[in-house]
Order: sequence, then structure tokens, then C-alpha cells
Amino acid sequence: MDFTRRPATLDDAAAIHQLIAAAERRWHGQVEAVPDAVAADLRRPLITLDLDTLVVEAANGELAAWAWVHGGRRAQVDVHPSYVGLGLGTELLDWVERRAREFGTDWLAQTVDDADKAGTELVRSRGYEVLATNWLLERPVDGAEPELSEGLTLRPFAPGDERIVHQVVQDAFDEWQPRRHEYDEWARTTVERTSFDPELSPVAVAGDEVVGAALSLELPGSPDAYVDQLAVRRDFRGRGLARALLTYTAQRAGRRGKQTLMLWTHSGTGALAMYERLGMRVRRSTTVYRIQL
Ligand SMILES: CC(C)(COP(=O)(O)OP(=O)(O)OC[C@H]1O[C@@H](n2cnc3c(N)ncnc32)[C@H](O)[C@@H]1OP(=O)(O)O)[C@@H](O)C(=O)NCCC(=O)NCCS
Repeated sequence: MDFTRRPATLDDAAAIHQLIAAAERRWHGQVEAVPDAVAADLRRPLITLDLDTLVVEAANGELAAWAWVHGGRRAQVDVHPSYVGLGLGTELLDWVERRAREFGTDWLAQTVDDADKAGTELVRSRGYEVLATNWLLERPVDGAEPELSEGLTLRPFAPGDERIVHQVVQDAFDEWQPRRHEYDEWARTTVERTSFDPELSPVAVAGDEVVGAALSLELPGSPDAYVDQLAVRRDFRGRGLARALLTYTAQRAGRRGKQTLMLWTHSGTGALAMYERLGMRVRRSTTVYRIQL
């Protein structure tokens, strides 16, 4: 089969989303990827489209595969289900590893869906080792009211909250994330996205201080409400705020006709046990693999 290779442009974002959606449909029978996720990724400050992305087009113009490298440390390779078994995964893994070496980094990580048996086998056969697990968690949506201890309130995210919410989230995530995301990078992948859903994104307030937040993205036409980030300031933990933020989101999502609340969590955060206490269950998982370059 003849394929053309070229860097991605922002105009490819919708077609790349379709490719990822086709793979999710094949593995899980439904699509969970947020439509503007690819566009948000392509706009990340560390990405130079000409150097860090590659799309593979079939002769009929269909996108057969794509790959990107982020900061020389993280890569993603996706092959359309109609084009698996043709060597594109191997070719793109060669490409992302080559590109990462140009950054001079010593290792490269990438995430593979656990339902993707071929992809899992491929990275393992190349010597990738398991670094971490991501779980997609879900719980049914109900009409329960959030319960708050005295002095704490919840309200929807409002314009002007961006900077303080960035600080609360990054201070909390600094406990486990390898590098802090400065405001511009964080904003482009959260509050500046077209899918950002302020109504389903409560902030927790104590006095006049923001001390926690749950940030949601809208999945149009999906029965799922999706919380993208959840954080509570260290000195306000253990008072039920995470529970209240998720209850608030679930209640508002239910009013919109959503049936499920879902979110991703990473093994490095140690938060799985908390989510299980909050009645969330694992829907599916992905594995983060790493290779020494
Ligand atoms: C995870 C986090 C949001 C929890 O916030 P919190 O307001 O302290 O949580 P809550 O007080 O609402 O706790 C909810 C329930 O989970 C339990 N819980 C909280 N942290 C827990 C943990 N690390 N392990 C097990 N259970 C935990 C609580 O005991 C409580 O259960 P209960 O109501 O039955 O007593 C907060 O610790 C945080 O911001 N961490 C850093 C950022 C992060 O990891 N976010 C999640 C990434 S996906």
C-alpha cells in the first residue's frame, strides 16, 4: 500500500481525532476521547509541528496513522484500525525514538491502551518497560446534594478564576508530576479549550480564598460527564472537599441528562483508593511504557 508522510498541521486535528475515535470504538465500543484534545495537544508550547509530528496518509486521503513527540520525553503513536498490521506502528516508533534522541534525553515514555494487544506486544518487544498505569474511572450520576463543612462553599468556575485555579491545581499536582506546567501551557490544555465546561467545573472557596477545583470538559452527544482535573489545597484536605466537588459535578451533569461521571487517574497520584471510596469503578486502563534511549 502506498502512503504519504508529512508533518501535521492544526487543520489535521479533526481527522486525527477521528482516527483515535475509530480505535476506541474498535476496542471499547464507544468513544471517550474529547474532540478538541488533539488540537489542544498540537498547540502545546513545547511542540514544533514540523519537527515533532508526523501523519501518514493512505492513497485515498484517509489518515492511516500519526505520531508526535513532546519535549523529547513523551510520545504518542496511533494507527487507524483499518491500517494495522502493515508496519506503520513500527515505522512510527522508529521515528519517535529517533526524534526523541535529537533532544538528547535519556528515556522516552508513551501510553498504550491495554485493549490494544498489538500495540502492547510491539512496545514490549522493543524493550519498553512498564512505568505507570492510568485508570478511567466511572460512577453513575445521581441527584445527591454536595455536603460541606462549615465555612466552605462551592460555586461554578467564573472568568477571573484562571490564575488562582492554575496555582491550586499545579501546587497539588507538583506532589507527583515530573514538571510543573506554567500558566500558558496549563491554560491552553484546560480553561482555554473550547470543550472547557465552567458550569460543571466547581471551585471550592473558604472565606475569599479558592482552595480546590474540579475542571470538566464537555463531550458533546456523550452520556459521560468528564472531569479532567481535581485538586484540593493541602491544608484543606480530609474535609470532604474532593467528595463535594465530584458530587456537585455529578448533580449538575445529571440535570443535563448525563448518565455517568468519569475521570482518569494515574498510579503515581495515589488517588485510586480515594476514588474507590467515592464509589468510582475502573472502566478501562492504559499503561505508560518507557524505553532507555
Ligand atoms: C486527591 C485529593 C483531591 C483528595 O482531596 P480531599 O478533599 O482531601 O478528599 P476528601 O476529603 O473529599 O476525601 C474523600 C474520601 O476519600 C478518602 N481519601 C482521601 N485521600 C485518600 C487517599 N490518599 N487514600 C485513600 N482514601 C483517601 C477520604 O478518607 C474520604 O473518604 P470518607 O469520606 O469515606 O472518609 C487531594 O488529596 C489532592 O488534591 N491531591 C493532589 C492532586 C491529585 O492527586 N488529584 C487527583 C489526581 S487524578
